[in-house]
Amino acid sequence: KRVAILISGGGSNMVALADSMAGDHPARPCLVLANDPDAGGLDKARARGIAVASVDHRPHAGDRAAFEAALMEPLEAAAPDIICLAGFMRVLTPDFVNRWQGRMLNIHPSLLPKYRGLNTHARALEAGDGEHGCTVHEVTAALDDGPVLGQARVPVLPGDNPAALAARVLEQEHRLYPAVLRRFAAGDRRPVWLP
Ligand code: GRF
Repeated sequence: KRVAILISGGGSNMVALADSMAGDHPARPCLVLANDPDAGGLDKARARGIAVASVDHRPHAGDRAAFEAALMEPLEAAAPDIICLAGFMRVLTPDFVNRWQGRMLNIHPSLLPKYRGLNTHARALEAGDGEHGCTVHEVTAALDDGPVLGQARVPVLPGDNPAALAARVLEQEHRLYPAVLRRFAAGDRRPVWLP
């Protein structure tokens, strides 16, 4: 299976996914695509010999369809079987999602359905939650709302601030996403629950 990974920034989830696709793993990374030509993850992908591309979303400001049409070029050239959104910070239109429906995954830093959207760690702290975590789900037209393919939980600790909690969650993202991708690439839709 060919996996394209979409990023916006440092790409730590991309690195975890790319490094997990080795040996008898049924998938290999075929493209790392960023919406920012300066995304730090692009160099990490290059260092791993993975094909990279970037489509700057800013020239298409306000025209999502044009941005996504530009994204489609490198994507169709790479012909992925699976797309992993990994720290990808752009909202995709229903048209784009429908084209990849059932083959596109995303990782979101909360225990969905709690805290869709942004600032999830601050919101969990604000709510006084005792635990928090991350979710891998299939991408559907509704934001952060598709079928859950896996979750990992972390405790919220006294004195936590958003950065400390985010770091604890990110560590679990790097375990959860590769575990889910391995199952998903093998055609196994059973969800992964990490303690
Ligand atoms: C992190 O906040 C992570 O929780 C979310 O995307 C952001 C950047 O991740 N999934 P990455 O380091 O670019 O993978």
